[in-house]
Amino acid sequence: MSSPTAIGIDIGGTGIKGAVVDLSTGALLSDRVKLPTPKGGRPQDIVETTRQILATVSAGAGNLPIGVCFPAIVKNGHTMSAANVSDKWIGLAAETLFEKGLGVPIHFVNDADAAGYAEATFGAAKGVDGVVLLTTLGTGIGTALINDGALVPNTELGHLEIDGVDYETRAAFSAKERDDLSWSKWAGRLQKYYSRLEALFSPDLFIVGGGVSKHHEDFLPLLKLHTRIIPAVHRNNAGILGAAALAARHSPSAV
Ligand code: BGC
Repeated sequence: MSSPTAIGIDIGGTGIKGAVVDLSTGALLSDRVKLPTPKGGRPQDIVETTRQILATVSAGAGNLPIGVCFPAIVKNGHTMSAANVSDKWIGLAAETLFEKGLGVPIHFVNDADAAGYAEATFGAAKGVDGVVLLTTLGTGIGTALINDGALVPNTELGHLEIDGVDYETRAAFSAKERDDLSWSKWAGRLQKYYSRLEALFSPDLFIVGGGVSKHHEDFLPLLKLHTRIIPAVHRNNAGILGAAALAARHSPSAV
């Protein structure tokens, strides 16, 4: 019997990418198709780019569950925030908008939740008991809270207020680049951030994702925490994998 499959699409600030995923292994079964995110990040333009990606990815793939992840709070298919995207997403019935534009049912989720679910299903948090906190360090900071394998969605802990500011503006990878910080200067900011998370959640494991986690040896050893902190296994594909796996779990045919 062939393995279960689904399509994952990851919408980011600079690119939108998608692929067919083998849900028993987390392997990509198609090429990863990527197009630039349309300027301005308006909903209708993003739906159109997603349609183009889906047309390529789904060619010949049959009728698969489709998951789409996006950098905002997603509640009952509505996007409820817009930290690094157009304000037009706030309060938008995004899932319905995409279903109309794409002509197929989809499952719409937060991008960090998708990445966390991917790590719990196919990666660094697979089989880990207790509280796992995944953080993605990119343009913003995304977080996924997982307890005994179950995801608590929309934690949005990148926006914790520390030193009177929304701390993703200090500790995200974009802040390292913007302020031209050395690894050790940036690690000083990360230390504050992870110490606060540790005090609030007493996690059993921190997982650090986002593209910069491929350089984990340059900054993770500088952090002094009680909690083990390790890099994510799936960096650039985590959103695709998690969106696909969550869509399959929510599809009407799922058992
Ligand atoms: C957003 C989150 C998102 C994270 C990573 C934050 O600014 O508020 O929803 O998960 O960035 O993209």
